[in-house]
Amino acid sequence: MTVSTYIPADITDPELHASGEVHQLWRWMRQHSPVHWHEPGDLPGFWSLTRYDHIRYVYQHPDLYSSAHGVLLRPTVLGEDPGSGLTMALTDPPRHRALRGQVADRFTERCARSLADEMRTEIRSVVTRAIEKGACDVVQDVGARLSSYSIARLLGVEPADREQLLQWSTEAFESGKPLTSHVPLMRFFIDMMYARMATPAQDAMGMFVNNDVQGELLTETEILLGVENLVGASENAGLAMAAGVFALGTHPQQWQRLVRERDGELVRTAVEEVLRWTSSATHSMRTATVDTVVQGQRIAAGDRVVLWMPSANRDESVFAEPDRFDLGRQPNRHLALGAGEHVCIGSTMARHQMRMLLQTLAELVAAIEPAGDMEPLRSITVNGPAYATVRLVAQ
Ligand code: HEM
Repeated sequence: MTVSTYIPADITDPELHASGEVHQLWRWMRQHSPVHWHEPGDLPGFWSLTRYDHIRYVYQHPDLYSSAHGVLLRPTVLGEDPGSGLTMALTDPPRHRALRGQVADRFTERCARSLADEMRTEIRSVVTRAIEKGACDVVQDVGARLSSYSIARLLGVEPADREQLLQWSTEAFESGKPLTSHVPLMRFFIDMMYARMATPAQDAMGMFVNNDVQGELLTETEILLGVENLVGASENAGLAMAAGVFALGTHPQQWQRLVRERDGELVRTAVEEVLRWTSSATHSMRTATVDTVVQGQRIAAGDRVVLWMPSANRDESVFAEPDRFDLGRQPNRHLALGAGEHVCIGSTMARHQMRMLLQTLAELVAAIEPAGDMEPLRSITVNGPAYATVRLVAQ
């Protein structure tokens, strides 16, 4: 079997992702080259998987496709991710299961329900402030603010420190920022880590510090990498919320449907459709542990395999009219939150938050009007707006 390397555009070009034209490329690849080899350049060589079934299969076979050598494409000069083999996202079973178990209590349905009142109050206050601003940036004023508050509450950050945490994490995770921009955030978490060592608590930081994993406590490095993994991963939630609000603004009929049916079943399907449509995590990477064959292509042990989730979520063999934003879509078994062993641990929390945001918007807002520029992110890791100005018009 010859390996096809022809491709009509460069999938690693952030501009292609920012322009949205990457969807045309993914459509082409699903049809003509669903298992596609990319030669090494600044990035290492890798296989692209673009069809839903293949992507789901890889997610569900951590024995064949490992997470322990990184789950995101990185320029070769940077070497392996420092968290490789150490954090929940970057380990394989059985270590992965033990690490996930260490903090799992904080991510249950019961836990999300117990936080519902607090979350609803927070969302009302964020939406009210955004309405009062006139034109607001849905990324900073809504998405980032809500996701940062959630992660802060989860870790056990005091309410008084949450605004500061939002500012530091925005600086640290902005693309292209140097590693030194993580310093204030890490210093804050180091102090918190020592505080939990002195006085245990039942928040996620307390669990990282005091719950053992396979009989041993985590090292300080492992704790801090674990915390950073959580904070970085939760960025997806902010982007999905921001992109979701923007999508409602550009699909007025869907918005009006949400307002009419906000107390019914539609809200549940709407959450899933916003997750599918926004697919804020762009790719996951795995490393083959043995030689495998997918769609007639031989993937060798050690090869990197990249799964493009927005492509899976627009796969026409799974989703009817995949390019239509339809809040009532059913069934909708999208892969925006991954699948299998590493399925997003924050998914319950993210779904609750998205549902409450949609309900609050439908209750307080009459119209979502584009009110200025929308600048997309230039990234192959996450996608959504870098900023998007809208006017939330009060009821
Ligand atoms: C709409 C919101 C979200 C999206 C689209 C999203 C997406 C994903 C995806 C695709 C994965 C699988 C990665 C892989 O298998 O390599 C994942 C895993 C993960 N997510 Fe999320 N996520 C979201 C919200 C969150 C939140 C709110 C948190 C934390 C509070 C979080 C924390 C994590 C962690 C720690 C993992 C690794 C889990 C593991 O390896 O077992 N995510 N997420």
